[in-house]
Amino acid sequence: MTVPSMRVAGSPIPGFLYGTAWKEQETERLTGLALDAGFRGIDTANQRRHYFEAGVGAAVSKAVADGVVRRDELFLQTKFTHVRGQDHRLPYDPDADPATQVRQSFASSLVHLQVDTLDSYVLHGPSTGTGLTEADLEVWRTMEELHAASKTRFLGISNVSLPQLTELCAQATVLPRFVQNRCFARLAWDREVRAFCRDRGIVYQGFSLLTANVAELRQPAFQRLVDRLQGTPAQIVFRFAQQVGMVPLTGTTDADHMREDLAAGRFDLTGDEVRLVESIAMAR
Ligand SMILES: NC(=O)c1ccc[n+]([C@@H]2O[C@H](COP(=O)([O-])OP(=O)(O)OC[C@H]3O[C@@H](n4cnc5c(N)ncnc54)[C@H](OP(=O)(O)O)[C@@H]3O)[C@@H](O)[C@H]2O)c1
Repeated sequence: MTVPSMRVAGSPIPGFLYGTAWKEQETERLTGLALDAGFRGIDTANQRRHYFEAGVGAAVSKAVADGVVRRDELFLQTKFTHVRGQDHRLPYDPDADPATQVRQSFASSLVHLQVDTLDSYVLHGPSTGTGLTEADLEVWRTMEELHAASKTRFLGISNVSLPQLTELCAQATVLPRFVQNRCFARLAWDREVRAFCRDRGIVYQGFSLLTANVAELRQPAFQRLVDRLQGTPAQIVFRFAQQVGMVPLTGTTDADHMREDLAAGRFDLTGDEVRLVESIAMAR
């Protein structure tokens, strides 16, 4: 199955990411299944509370050794997570300064993932809900150093509001190339952040597209669209996301769903249908 790709700073990146959260001891097996199914973009985090990054690395290493995929065909993305988002299994010294924590977390990610460089390194989220702290800016500057040293091709930020993203872009030397946010249909699928990203060449990665929008996806207008296109609700949501320029994430644990999600690229929503899904929270 061919996944539509998009270009970031001239490089192709996969138009669909496989997410590895909450898989625990199944992480290696499920990441391997996703690579076998055709996913070429993998999202993880050095946050043992929700991810088992070493399991991702074991699957990637095996897939490369078995000739399933070459490293240069893969888009590998992981994250730096502030102490507040971690449990006791920290990938850094909690008493160290933020810059040291980033360097330690990044080095440990490379070990877990069994690679020399990353494709994307993401700040999992600012340390507070509003604004950016001095610690956030120090983290970002350290991420910029990793980028300057060619240890990661791109930088990104997750769980970010429009004011925080605006502030980061004003302060940064290296701009984020990715924003990864939970995408609520009732906020027109994060329309304001997506518009900001589009204007600045930032690629928006959307997660919880299904789980955050259960009620909206039961709307009769959406069901009629699913029936007309003869797809599944998941396929229509993921295809909608791709057509509005997002890179969707799926963390499915089901091999049939993996194949089904990758096949979303064969659907084509008209402009009116895209607008219908975009405003589905207002539909009847
Ligand atoms: N940056 C962040 O803070 C953050 C937060 C949350 C998630 N993420 C990333 O996003 C990834 C995806 O997470 P998510 O929140 O979107 O939820 P998810 O883990 O993908 O969960 C999707 C749920 O929908 C079900 N489902 C039913 N049909 C499906 C289909 N055709 N395709 C996919 N799922 C289907 C799945 O069940 P089955 O398993 O049975 O298919 C599963 O229960 C995570 O693994 C992680 O990488 C990032």
